[in-house]
Parts: sequence; structure tokens; C-alpha cells
Amino acid sequence: MTPDNPRVGDQDSSPYADALLAFAARGRSRFTTPGHHGDPDGQPLIAAMLGEGVLSLDVQPTVEGIDHGPGNPMQRSLDLAARAWGARRTWFLSNGSSQGNLTACLALAGLGDTIVAQRSVHSSVVDGLMLSGLAAGFVRPTVDHSLGIAHGVTPESLDAALAAHPDAVAAFVVTPSYFGACADVAALADVAHRRGAALVVDEAWGAHFGFHPGLPVNAVRLGADVVIASMHKLGGSLGQTALLHVGHGPLAQRLEPLLERAFRSMQSTSESSVLLASLDLARRQIAVRGGETIGRSLASAARLRERVESDGRFRDATPRIAAFPDVVGVDPLRVVVDVRSGGISGHDARSLLFQELGHHVEMSTDDVIVAIVGAGTAPDPDALADALLRLPELPAPTRHRIELPDPGPRRMTVREAWFAPTEVVAADAAVGRVSADSVAAYPPGIPNLMPGEEITEQTLEFLRETAAAPFGWVRGALDDDVSHVRVVAR
Ligand SMILES: Cc1ncc(COP(=O)(O)O)c(C=O)c1O
Repeated sequence: MTPDNPRVGDQDSSPYADALLAFAARGRSRFTTPGHHGDPDGQPLIAAMLGEGVLSLDVQPTVEGIDHGPGNPMQRSLDLAARAWGARRTWFLSNGSSQGNLTACLALAGLGDTIVAQRSVHSSVVDGLMLSGLAAGFVRPTVDHSLGIAHGVTPESLDAALAAHPDAVAAFVVTPSYFGACADVAALADVAHRRGAALVVDEAWGAHFGFHPGLPVNAVRLGADVVIASMHKLGGSLGQTALLHVGHGPLAQRLEPLLERAFRSMQSTSESSVLLASLDLARRQIAVRGGETIGRSLASAARLRERVESDGRFRDATPRIAAFPDVVGVDPLRVVVDVRSGGISGHDARSLLFQELGHHVEMSTDDVIVAIVGAGTAPDPDALADALLRLPELPAPTRHRIELPDPGPRRMTVREAWFAPTEVVAADAAVGRVSADSVAAYPPGIPNLMPGEEITEQTLEFLRETAAAPFGWVRGALDDDVSHVRVVAR
């Protein structure tokens, strides 16, 4: 047993999922919500598509013997999850890490009114600032301008940002990045704690960390106070499910009741039991069998990297990413392929892989495609590597490079701008105005434009070109081609 491994014996049970199964097997007549009553005759289309089991397991919350009453199975499952990740306490989330980030921001507002946040946080953190009214000082991540990707923050830059904002009650960072770069969480926690601030880690992409010696250690065990993790991303549970953990220090202790209160405000009163059960089962699977199954995933990802390098047309970007000063490790299950040497843009490569070659990879930028290997899965690396070699070389004009923009200067807080009187203007007339919206190339969903920031020509150009790229989508844009922008009225 390594210090990062949960106690397997305890983990080989799934009380909540088992209680649901037992409830469904008992076959009571139902006169409750959900109104399908588990009856396949009432909903034959759903039953035909998803199976009758989904209907019978879809049960309303607060049922005695499932998630209600002292020592109920849900509570036992939450305790098992907390133990698996080394947390003081864990909450199941049915609306993703987005819900976790909103919840964390609301909770932090109970400690004070200012935080320091990594500028490349997910848009849900910006929404959290808007809802909570927290003011944020932003700390810039390192950026690989050549590949157009943002990494994480160094302990030194976090320290400087906290020194510049002595009233900050927390530092909100993202690690691993969308490209698998892991920041030094232990050092960031030290820096934050020395400055009297809590460390909140958006570990959306690292729910699987800590369950195999070949993976990085998770942020709770590295000393973070609050950690948000999308179990659905690489951890194997169903889409939309995530975990919120609170750690062990004195600030974490203060935050626990604040998180509980904020969680209630952000939680649906009719959460899907099917989604929650998938969290329970995926935790059991990764905690008990991860040591063995993740070995296969690691081998699959390693083989893909090897093929990319030995085939010679493209490059494995991992060594380049690992060389940045904030990066102390990389998630080996994320394969970032630098396509610059291969005569095709990342966006075109991803689109052709999907449309014509039968492969769906997670994301692209102009210069890279990112493939992920879910923890416990082992997709065929050679099939994807072969497909990469079959991609055509495209003529240069379609390979115009889309540069990641620097953010414009901040003119107002997120909340001030979001609630200010606004107007919609043509994109060309928006340069120099203050954005009222969060607008983000998706994925990765890092706002390129935040409420309260001045709009620059460079940012607008990036957003418009991203929208025009194959698979391009700009979240928060008013129209598909970003031809209009909502700005704070003059
Ligand atoms: C860093 C980060 N945080 C949070 C989220 C939101 O996660 P979810 O989709 O689980 O709500 C994402 C989504 O991609 C993300 O990349």
C-alpha cells in the first residue's frame, strides 16, 4: 500500500448504488416523482434506448434506506469517497465541476471579499465570482506562445499575486491544465497558507490522480484546502458527475460548513440517482481495481506517444510542456500531439479524424490535438496513430495560425460588469469597450474575455477565428460567428 492508495478492503463496496438496486428489485408501486414511476410501458422510448433498468433505478431523493436517515447508504458512500481521495469530507456533484466551482466561490465569500485567481480558470469560476461578488486579483499562468496553450502558475507568481492582494482569503488555481500540465500543488499550498489564504484547486482533469503509482498524487493529499474534480472526465463515472473535497488544515476546517451551505444552494432538489450511483460505482472501481486497470491505460497512452514520435510526421508535445517552469509533472493519460510539422492544423486534423477516419479526439487548437485515455480504458493506440498518418497535407492558406491573445486590462470587477446596464454592439465597434460577458473558446472553456475586461482587437480576432475553425465553438458568444458582443453601456 502506497500512502496514496486507499484502503482497498473498505473500498470494495458501493452502499448507495447497492441500496438503489435493492429498492428497484423490491418493485413497490410508485406514486412519486420521477413521474415515469420506473414503468417501461409509460416510457417505452426511453426504455428502448436506455434499458428498463435506468427507469427503475431513477428514484427521487430523500428515500429512507437510500439517502435518508442516520447512517444512510449515501452517507456511507460519501465517506468512502472522502477516504479514497484522502479528504476530510466529500460531496457528490451532479452538475459537474462547474457546480463545484460555483459552490467553492460562494463558500469563499464567507471568509472575505477578495481572492486571487489564476487568469486561465474555467468560465464556471468567473460565474462563481459573479454570483458571490468576490473581487479577484488575477495571476497569469505561463503560456506556451508557440503552441498557443496556457499552463499553470508558479509558487513565485502566486506569492507575488497574494502579496499584491494582502486581503485575499484564497488562491484559486487550475491543475492539471487541459493539456495535462501539473503545477506544484504542495508548494502552492505552502505559499497560500503562509499568506493566510486557502488553496482551492480546480482538479477537474485529475479525478483519477493517486490511483496508480504512474499517476500524479491528487491535490487533497498535497495539501489543498478545497478540490473540485470532474469524475466524469477521466475517472469513469457518467457525464456531468463530479466531486467536491475539503482538505484538512485549519482553513479547510473553517470552509467545511461554508461549503455545505453553498452546496445546498447549488444543488438540485431532484438530483439524478443514476448519475450519483455512477459516482459511487466509479469510485469503487478505481479505488479497488485502478492499480491494475490504469496500467493498461498508461500502456495505451505510452504506445500512442511512441508511435507519434517514431512515425515522425508529428511530435509528442509532452517533453515541451514538461519544460515550463510551473510544470512539475504531466498526466500521462493525456496525449498532446504537436501537428505543426505535419502540414495540417490541429482543428483540421481533429475534424478529418472525426468526419472521415472514425476517431474522436478530445480537442484541438491550431497547433495541437489532444487525445485522452480514460483511467481504466485502453483504446487502440495504433489505430489512431495510423489514422494520423493518413491525414492529408492541406494547402497553406487554410492553415492561418490563430494566436492565443493576452487578456485586456481589467476595468471593473466581474460582478460590477455583469450587473451593469449593457448594450449589444457590432464586434468591430467593441474594441476598447468593457465586456459584460464571459466569452470562451470551447474547449478548453477558459474565458478569453471576462466581464469587466477591456476588449482588445487581438481577443476579438482570436474568438472570431476560433468560431470559424472546424469544430469551432465560442461559449458565451451572442452569435455563431461572434459578430456582436455585449458590453457595459456608456
Ligand atoms: C479546468 C476545468 N474546470 C471545470 C470544468 C467544468 O467541468 P464540468 O464540465 O464537469 O462542469 C472544466 C471543463 O472542461 C475544466 O476544464
